[in-house]
Amino acid sequence: MKISYLGHATVLIETGGKKIIVDPFITGNPLAKDKFVLEQIEVDYIMITHAHQDHVLDVEELAEANPQARLISNYEIITYFSRDGIDGHPMNHGGSWDFDFGRVTMVNAWHSSSFADGTYGGNPAGFVIESEGKAIYIAGDTGLTLDMKLIPLFAKLDLAVLPIGDNFTMGPESAAVAADFVACDKVLGYHYDTFDLIKIDHQKAKETFAKAGKELILLPIGDSMEI
Ligand code: NI
Ligand code: MN
Repeated sequence: MKISYLGHATVLIETGGKKIIVDPFITGNPLAKDKFVLEQIEVDYIMITHAHQDHVLDVEELAEANPQARLISNYEIITYFSRDGIDGHPMNHGGSWDFDFGRVTMVNAWHSSSFADGTYGGNPAGFVIESEGKAIYIAGDTGLTLDMKLIPLFAKLDLAVLPIGDNFTMGPESAAVAADFVACDKVLGYHYDTFDLIKIDHQKAKETFAKAGKELILLPIGDSMEI
């Protein structure tokens, strides 16, 4: 499974012969917008954790450039984009589905979820993706929650992708505890540095994780890793 960091909370997962982009927000990200040409990003699935603008901004354009791509999100978000003729697979919390690339379980996130125009975006979520014998947890925007202790019941994780930018989500201290709750020693940090309110000290964050016996990986935007 190959995981590429496209900035903010956008990750591209290549597994099972498919490309799954999570929470596409590139054209609005000052740190990423000059690094990619949105229309040239090839995807088979667009996975959305919640309806906030910094997670859905590029969904429509990306879907237009990839007409075969399907959305995976909660019922409300799928319904919202279906009005634009974008096809999607609706899920809700606690449910799993076997896609052609692997199994996806929608799990809880403690946050909020509304579209920029005020439309209700359902409840925010995270996802556990199991594919090619590996498992990854994408937390979405969330605070630290005891529900994370349920994640190991769904899958034995090889990687946890956790928000670490603080203010709107967990900061590094809470995220290190979250890594413990989800029983995963390897963490890819995301949702940091994009805006002033979520700028963090990278070295300090890595030390916080190291003290907890965890590894925090901070990929430069555009870089990839394998699990
Ligand atoms: Ni959010
Ligand atoms: Mn966000």
